[in-house]
Amino acid sequence: MANVLELRDVSFVRNGNRILDQLSWSVDEADRWVVLGPNGAGKSTILQLAAAATHPTSGTIDVLGERVGKVDVFELRTRIGLAATGLARRIPAAERVGDVVLTAAYAVTGRWHERYESLDLERAAEVMDAWDLAPLANRPFGTLSDGERKRVQIARAVMTDPELMLLDEPAGSLDLGARESLLASLEEYASSSLAPAIVMVTHHVEEIPPGFTHGMLLREGRIVAAGPLDSVLTDAHLTETFGLGLEVAHDGGRWSARATR
Ligand SMILES: Nc1ncnc2c1ncn2[C@@H]1O[C@H](COP(=O)(O)OP(=O)(O)O)[C@@H](O)[C@H]1O
Ligand SMILES: [Mg+2]
Repeated sequence: MANVLELRDVSFVRNGNRILDQLSWSVDEADRWVVLGPNGAGKSTILQLAAAATHPTSGTIDVLGERVGKVDVFELRTRIGLAATGLARRIPAAERVGDVVLTAAYAVTGRWHERYESLDLERAAEVMDAWDLAPLANRPFGTLSDGERKRVQIARAVMTDPELMLLDEPAGSLDLGARESLLASLEEYASSSLAPAIVMVTHHVEEIPPGFTHGMLLREGRIVAAGPLDSVLTDAHLTETFGLGLEVAHDGGRWSARATR
């Protein structure tokens, strides 16, 4: 199995704040990781580093066999799928959903003068189907619900057939129905042997899709626990991560947590 992501002693310092502190972590191509932790723990920063969107202050990062800082990051970024809220804000409200997904093949937003190959059109149709977006193909992006927007973002990332998929709170702000339906889609995507390595950030254990294999718990820029989900999601680890007494339950492939009574 090949290593798709390797962080060694990575620290990230901004304005004198140590946002990540001596983090070491590796992700294998068959892994589906969830990164869990409270707000401000450094989860999104890890994803930005994994996406080669920013550089560590110290330590080394290898993504898809390339050392960040030593290779052409533009080339490297075309091999990484990233779905994060910040990117959604850059999508023009008037752009049709079909074009939002299609233009991912060209790493742009806004359909201007690119010429699309029929292969790309076929692939876009396939991805739209898989993420239940076909009925929305002609809708302007700005008219979609939060849940629909999240699906479009993920479909846009899937469209490029990445070797590493990074999802930052894909189920954040969704209502119960939209969350459950997105989790079912993520479960299906993650279960395919063709799917890339996946790292998904969340702060709720309820949002972990069945089939995810590994977990990292993060608190104030440090790893509390990392490894196979069963060994990581314990009462003691969650309690330490979130700073209050928690008990965790695992049933039918799904996780839940509540304050200790
Ligand atoms: N570029 C930056 N400059 C200063 N502080 C930052 C920067 N990026 C993130 N932070 C701070 O680092 C901490 C971790 O941020 P983040 O990775 O977004 O956490 P999370 O995604 O776990 O909520 C937060 O306290 C945030 O305010
Ligand atoms: Mg975040």
